[in-house]
Amino acid sequence: MPLPKAELHLHIEGTLEPELAFELAARNGVKLPYADTDALREAYRFENLQSFLNLYYELMAVLRTERDFEDLANAYLARAAAQGVRHAEIFFDPQAHIARGVAVGTVVEGLARALDRSEENHGVSTHLILCFLRDESAESALATLDAAKPYLDRIIGVGLDSAEVGHPPVKFREVYESAAALGLRRVAHAGEEGPPEYITEALDILGVERIDHGLRCMESPELVARLARDRVPLTLCPLSNVRLRTVDTLADHPLPAMLDAGLLCTVNSDDPAYFGGYADDNFKAVRETLALTEEQLRELARNSFEASFLEDDEERRAR
Ligand code: ADE
Ligand code: ZN
Repeated sequence: MPLPKAELHLHIEGTLEPELAFELAARNGVKLPYADTDALREAYRFENLQSFLNLYYELMAVLRTERDFEDLANAYLARAAAQGVRHAEIFFDPQAHIARGVAVGTVVEGLARALDRSEENHGVSTHLILCFLRDESAESALATLDAAKPYLDRIIGVGLDSAEVGHPPVKFREVYESAAALGLRRVAHAGEEGPPEYITEALDILGVERIDHGLRCMESPELVARLARDRVPLTLCPLSNVRLRTVDTLADHPLPAMLDAGLLCTVNSDDPAYFGGYADDNFKAVRETLALTEEQLRELARNSFEASFLEDDEERRAR
């Protein structure tokens, strides 16, 4: 039985499996530039974050209607439940859909159809986190938050993702201030490919409560000490780091050193359709390759609930 856990770093668009991509392409009359699912899987060889993002954005062309987003979320929730996920805080990228003429309401209402029945159908509670694309402008992020205002009762917080290097958190100061004023929780990807300074900026300028990835904090002992002291959660994604070549091999992953340093680490799947595994696949991989003890695995699972945006009573029920 997989350990009960919360998944805190999961891009719903990154759960689009090749089979569903072809099914939605046929349903929507979209022509994919791949002969079949095997040919598509062949394209899953990434040099870095950008080479993955190119394919990730390309495949989104098949997501057009509320029903598509509902089917995508249902497929993820069924897989997550089978991997011991009891609670999922799910990222979505509205700008990537708006750019293709798909309204933010279509995305949110479609996802909500699946999320509303998730506890009943899959035993998984959920929250939605709206992510801004950091390689788009600050004005575009502000316009996206504005467009999402009618749906904020469905959205617990905001995040920041996409190509990191050259797009420091400070670029999004204003939109994060607006999000905080609207009562939204704040997280951001930082220190995946970008330098440790981006992690510090995300904390000090954007006021984030969690850091997504945060791997490169290990280059700064002062930052590690601060993150450990303040119990800032890091949502690590080991299989993603291998596939995007942030680490050379899983055996080189700093997770054991991060746990030893007293960091509040969690293990998540990021874009599981692309990176070879869902939540428990990541747990299994680190257990086997990094020789984590059973107690360390239980610590990771406990951390995932502690770092979630669940209220205390909800957290107790989910565990
Ligand atoms: N969008 C989807 N997956 C991502 C990742 N690992 N880093 C940044 N942006 C992303
Ligand atoms: Zn991510």
